Amino acid sequence: MATLECRSLDLHLKVTFRLAERDDLPKLEWYGKYTHFRRVFQRTYEEQLRGERLMLLADVNGFPIGQIFIQLDKQAEQLQAGGKHAYLYSLRVMDAFQRQGLGSALLREAEALLRERGYTSVSIAAAKENDAARRLYERHGFQVVDEDAGRWSYVDHEGVTHYVNEPCWIMEKWLG
Ligand SMILES: CC(C)(COP(=O)(O)OP(=O)(O)OC[C@H]1O[C@@H](n2cnc3c(N)ncnc32)[C@H](O)[C@@H]1OP(=O)(O)O)[C@@H](O)C(=O)NCCC(=O)NCCS
Repeated sequence: MATLECRSLDLHLKVTFRLAERDDLPKLEWYGKYTHFRRVFQRTYEEQLRGERLMLLADVNGFPIGQIFIQLDKQAEQLQAGGKHAYLYSLRVMDAFQRQGLGSALLREAEALLRERGYTSVSIAAAKENDAARRLYERHGFQVVDEDAGRWSYVDHEGVTHYVNEPCWIMEKWLG
């Protein structure tokens, strides 16, 4: 069998961190991988417009190759807790771009956004079976403070409700 000669090309990509715009919503489906979250993306975007959530994207040439969403405190909760707290979730990086520091960069950018807005603490959930995610969060200074049954549901693009059962660690970090 003939040996195929392998050639390579080093790509240097400029990644920009920015908030999602309406045009990004179909792109967040990543060509079918997350089509089932179409309504979730739409609702989250509307919540971003109302100042309740942020959709932070890692953009390459206008395409979101990574994302992290941020749920911001409601006024009443802030007053009750005596500080502004935010919850990070849906951190994901496209497979081909993983293990190059992008997940870490998204966490750093999310924290920077929150510091600028006066937030004092942040939490994130790591699925108990996702050791890599827990390791990543611990490296970024998050500590396990609680656990949760991780029961939630979403309505997919065809209107079908899905129930998710994903026990997780609740991890927290002070922003200082
Ligand atoms: C979890 C996730 C967001 C991490 O994204 P990522 O871009 O791979 O994250 P990073 O590159 O910053 O770090 C991941 C690993 O790559 C390593 N790494 C970072 N830069 C590297 C580089 N240049 N060369 C080699 N390895 C590198 C990190 O040290 C880390 O190693 P570890 O797994 O041994 O701790 C990604 O794996 C993902 O999208 N997974 C699917 C969704 C998911 O599980 N999300 C979390 C929900 S709880």
